[in-house]
Amino acid sequence: MAFPEAFLEELSARNDIVDVVSGYVRLTKRSGANQFGLCPFHSEKTPSFSVNPERQIFHCFGCGKGGGVIQFIMDIENLSYPDAVGFLARRAGLEVPDDGRDVNRGRRARMLELNREAARYFYRELIAPTGAAGQAYVARRGIVSMVKPFGLGYAPDRWDGLLEAMTAKGYTVPELIDAGLCRARNNGGAYDYFRNRLMFPVIDVRGSVIGFSGRILGDGEPKYLNSPDTLVYSKSKSVFALNLAKKSKSGYILLAEGNIDVVSLHQAGFDSAVASLGTSLTADQARLLARYTSQIVIAYDADAAGQKAAQRAITLLQPLEIGVRVLTIPDAKDPDEFIQTKGAEAFRTLIERSGNQIEYRLSQIENGFDLKTDEGRVGYLKEASRLIASLPSSVDREVYGMRAAERAGVSAEAVRGEVDRARNRFASNAKKQREREASAPLRAAQPQARELRFENVRSAVAEKGLVNLLYRFPERFTDAALSGSDFSSPALGRLYDAMKTRAREGQAVSVAALGESFTQEEMALLADIISRDETTPVAADAAIRDYIRVIQEEKNKAARQEDMNAYAASLKQRKGYGDKHGS
Ligand code: GTP
Ligand code: MN
Repeated sequence: MAFPEAFLEELSARNDIVDVVSGYVRLTKRSGANQFGLCPFHSEKTPSFSVNPERQIFHCFGCGKGGGVIQFIMDIENLSYPDAVGFLARRAGLEVPDDGRDVNRGRRARMLELNREAARYFYRELIAPTGAAGQAYVARRGIVSMVKPFGLGYAPDRWDGLLEAMTAKGYTVPELIDAGLCRARNNGGAYDYFRNRLMFPVIDVRGSVIGFSGRILGDGEPKYLNSPDTLVYSKSKSVFALNLAKKSKSGYILLAEGNIDVVSLHQAGFDSAVASLGTSLTADQARLLARYTSQIVIAYDADAAGQKAAQRAITLLQPLEIGVRVLTIPDAKDPDEFIQTKGAEAFRTLIERSGNQIEYRLSQIENGFDLKTDEGRVGYLKEASRLIASLPSSVDREVYGMRAAERAGVSAEAVRGEVDRARNRFASNAKKQREREASAPLRAAQPQARELRFENVRSAVAEKGLVNLLYRFPERFTDAALSGSDFSSPALGRLYDAMKTRAREGQAVSVAALGESFTQEEMALLADIISRDETTPVAADAAIRDYIRVIQEEKNKAARQEDMNAYAASLKQRKGYGDKHGS
């Protein structure tokens, strides 16, 4: 793989990792050379995600993810290596040297172009006289003024409308099929996938048309057809209308279920409405939203499915430190119907009065019990106390404790007692967990990736130490005798050799330079190693000597063991030989 090395160095130099990471993670704590924040890759309450500005690496002590700035962008933006490089290049205003290596770059650009042309075609079909059916539907739903801002369109009731228009523009049938706009026929040829539908282009935050949703005009099944995932489109990672909502000044994002709800909300002035595409919110979509807001108001459908989806969304959003409020929509099946019947002002009042998620979850718990019976009250109190006990703020615990007491018709003291018991249980479970972790130092010394597990932990600890020092003081290794083949861990050995070679040749020993020759798991291991403070420069030489000694000792031990094994085997064999001859 070959981006020129000078380019990668320049790229890393111009994308300081603290800057880049700060766009996604609030770095709140400093400890030694590291800055810490809540890990964006796993859910946690105390920060174990570290960034080291000096070494330009990140590393999470909790989930083990780590690497340089390119790796960070790959992980957080879900991009391939070349795409992450492109992303950072754009960020820094650098030109990516074109080596023709990214075979998909051209295809991707062309598919985006095709999607844009298709969106234009659908739009033209909607406003043309022949688009009467589409126009009538848009008028009936009362969203005429949103046609332009959303780029809505109409897929005519034909098998080859789009096919004809796009092939006339020079796109091939395989290209149309790859983009999910046409389907292949068994006997060759193809037909339009979207027919007689209201078309919603899905536009990403960069403004590219990446896919489509098509709603049937009126009733019928399936109600929606969506583009399949393609080279440029991943449903589970995209959010409908985020291209518009990201510009909103409202201070929150309104998360709805249906495309129609979103359009209708925008028309009513709620310009921060979005919808996850298809089924319920995914973790990737939650992270994407978290990049644009710290407040989400969920406005899902009023039915049981909608409320269940809201619960799931809360669970996904909570670890991202996003404030979540949930609307319950009275007397209407969804936000669209509510606005159409009661008006925008009534909806605004709903938002203003919307409880926070604690209140919402309390009322959800309440729904599960019959508070008229003793049994129901006890059950409610137990579950509510567990929820309240999990709140970090004592003020919140007090306030919601009182509320729960009121609902259950018991004294505030009774709730307080129940909450305290639940908190004690949490604390003792957490303590047990810590003890389990502390008693497993060898396990802790192991790398996160299973395939990299160390056979010989004593040697591996020294090998890691050596790699760390080599990374920090390459000049001290220019004539080190030890070679990577002396290591017990093949991965560490290869890292060591690659770094030493670079040090000898006077090249930079950096994560950016190494990234291309090692797997993601190996780079995470390296980041883990170099994110730990080893020793002072003064003590480094002695440490290097000690590590080399340990590695050699262990290697000799292993060699002796092998000799012993071979000797034992040969004895056995000789004995067998003797037996045969009846000695
Ligand atoms: P109406 O209010 O009935 O006009 O539709 P809506 O746009 O509000 O959609 P609804 O609330 O019924 O559905 C919510 C979302 O679920 C839609 O935006 C689609 O993303 C998805 N969805 C609904 N029906 C289907 C379907 O038949 N197939 C697929 N793949 N997705 C669907
Ligand atoms: Mn709806």
